[in-house]
Amino acid sequence: MSAATLIRNIGELTTNVAADGDPCGTLRDAAVLIEDGRIAWVGPDSDGSGQLEVVDAGGRAVIPGFVDSHTHTVFGGDRADEFEARMTGTPYAAGGIRRTVAATRAATDDELRARLAGFAAELRAQGTTTFEVKTGYGLDLETEERLARLAAEATPEVTFLGAHVVPAEFADDRDAYVDLVCGPMLDACAPHSRWVDVFCERGAFTPDESRRVLEAGIARGLLPRVHGNQLGPGAGVRLATSMGAASVDHCTYLDDADIAALAASDTVATLLPGVEFSTRHPYPDARRMLDAGVTVALASDCNPGSSFTSSMPLMIALAVREMGMTTAEAVWAATAGGARALRRDDVGMIAPGMRADLVLLDAPTRVHLAYRPGVPLVAQVWKDGVATA
Ligand code: NIG
Ligand code: FE
Repeated sequence: MSAATLIRNIGELTTNVAADGDPCGTLRDAAVLIEDGRIAWVGPDSDGSGQLEVVDAGGRAVIPGFVDSHTHTVFGGDRADEFEARMTGTPYAAGGIRRTVAATRAATDDELRARLAGFAAELRAQGTTTFEVKTGYGLDLETEERLARLAAEATPEVTFLGAHVVPAEFADDRDAYVDLVCGPMLDACAPHSRWVDVFCERGAFTPDESRRVLEAGIARGLLPRVHGNQLGPGAGVRLATSMGAASVDHCTYLDDADIAALAASDTVATLLPGVEFSTRHPYPDARRMLDAGVTVALASDCNPGSSFTSSMPLMIALAVREMGMTTAEAVWAATAGGARALRRDDVGMIAPGMRADLVLLDAPTRVHLAYRPGVPLVAQVWKDGVATA
């Protein structure tokens, strides 16, 4: 591999460096120089020379690598039967999580590691260069620790989600389970994790329980994020904003006070339209959030229950078709928005000093991501300057 790569003849470059009222910082007929895994220079198209390895983009579009800030990709088994039943009218219920817990507990480390590596390859092939992984299908100390440790082998963005649901063996003593999560389970998982998350929803954890879990994580140096307002109205958004969470994820059922609280906060609203696609709930009203000044991210929520897809291009297509977002807003939300949700300032943009994480599309503009749904448009991916697909 040469130390420097020049990608030239880029017909449309999405930098996400806002300019002249364009949040996507779009440049035409551009070139990008990569050196030592970072972006070294961005500017008008030019011929490369000397030691440079030159990639001719052929007038096609280049965007930042997708930042998928929300996945649950370390687990055993799948739940295709539940999906089939949902498509003919059975409603989604969070209780299905317990089936994946049983399959995950029964899996070996090597089985879980191989499965996660498969998802990581799947994500990369579709243009995702940064992804988060949550625990939450172990729900006992030993398995949650295994999931956090295995996730940390695949990504620095590991989230402890011991508070996903109360496992069956604690059904009659949920306080004891919250004590376990907030004590020994967190002690075992925090060294592998950057984030603490909780499913704050009817059928999962109450607002008081959720606050306890987040505070226990914060006390161990973790940063808070929340699953909230997925299956109905609730306190998730207000809990997240009041605790300064980096993001609150789902945001499907919001009232005016939720939107106002988000707009007044630094908390990102992470929308997961794969869930609505796969559960038949209504899509979140992204337009209303954006018009109110809320920062919106898009993520896949890849998991075997509510959204078994790792495709960020599909999220963009759904956001544009179903949620009132422009293509520019959706691409920004799937790149820079994901970086905001993960509080990362080294990804999600193409600018000097940023990691050289880029995607060359087999299309002249980013609009084609929504315009050509389901078509594999990712022609080439660079992660830290290394071409991988
Ligand atoms: O983000 N909301 C909670 N957890 C996952 C669903 C997990 C499952 O059904 O297995 C979600 O949608
Ligand atoms: Fe989730």
